[in-house]
Amino acid sequence: MNPFERIVKRYQTLPKVDLAQGRSIAYSRSTTRRMMGLQDANAQGNVHGGVIMRMVDEAAAIVALKHSQCPTVVTARVERFDFLAPAFIGDVVSVHCEMHYVGRTSMEVGVEVIAEDVISGEKRHIASSYVIYVAVDENRKPTPVPPLVPADDEEQAIVEQARIRRMHRQKIDNELRRAKEGKE
Ligand SMILES: CC(C)(COP(=O)(O)OP(=O)(O)OC[C@H]1O[C@@H](n2cnc3c(N)ncnc32)[C@H](O)[C@@H]1OP(=O)(O)O)[C@@H](O)C(=O)NCCC(=O)NCCS
Repeated sequence: MNPFERIVKRYQTLPKVDLAQGRSIAYSRSTTRRMMGLQDANAQGNVHGGVIMRMVDEAAAIVALKHSQCPTVVTARVERFDFLAPAFIGDVVSVHCEMHYVGRTSMEVGVEVIAEDVISGEKRHIASSYVIYVAVDENRKPTPVPPLVPADDEEQAIVEQARIRRMHRQKIDNELRRAKEGKE
């Protein structure tokens, strides 16, 4: 079977997802890590920021896929991306991701990136981000996902902060849209 046939077949045999069954943050939490090599360098010899951004998008998508059990989730927005410190060739970069908020079809994943010198054991928090994914059906239209149900007070606090972020984001989007429409 060629890889494309395998993908098509896999999509045909997926289980039906129970949209009434909520999932906790812990359910889909995920970490990916990789040692930085020469292919990851920028002109200064540090790790290129784009390498970190790609790792973040790939790692955070795993959380969205796990939570939604939807075969296709698309990156709708990188809400923010803070580079806090450089990573170096030879560092092991770990991308810790967890679900922060789930709307009807969209999911916000919070990301923390840690670089570690595995010889000395020194760890540095090098980046943070929030990435928003939307689950889409076979026609690439947004499709509902199971709700996020916080398992404890700690998870509840994470969800509440993300809810506030989403509210502000929507407010800013609407204001900018109105301002643009006013100009046209
Ligand atoms: C993301 C996408 C599916 C949204 O489609 P749409 O028809 O505009 O979606 P809707 O307006 O119905 O919104 C659907 C949900 O997505 C959210 N959404 C849509 N665009 C968004 C954006 N730019 N930022 C944050 N959330 C967004 C909406 O808030 C809504 O959330 P909810 O269902 O949880 O309330 C569509 O814009 C798209 O396909 N974009 C390209 C994605 C892509 O190619 N990514 C890169 C490679 S993976």
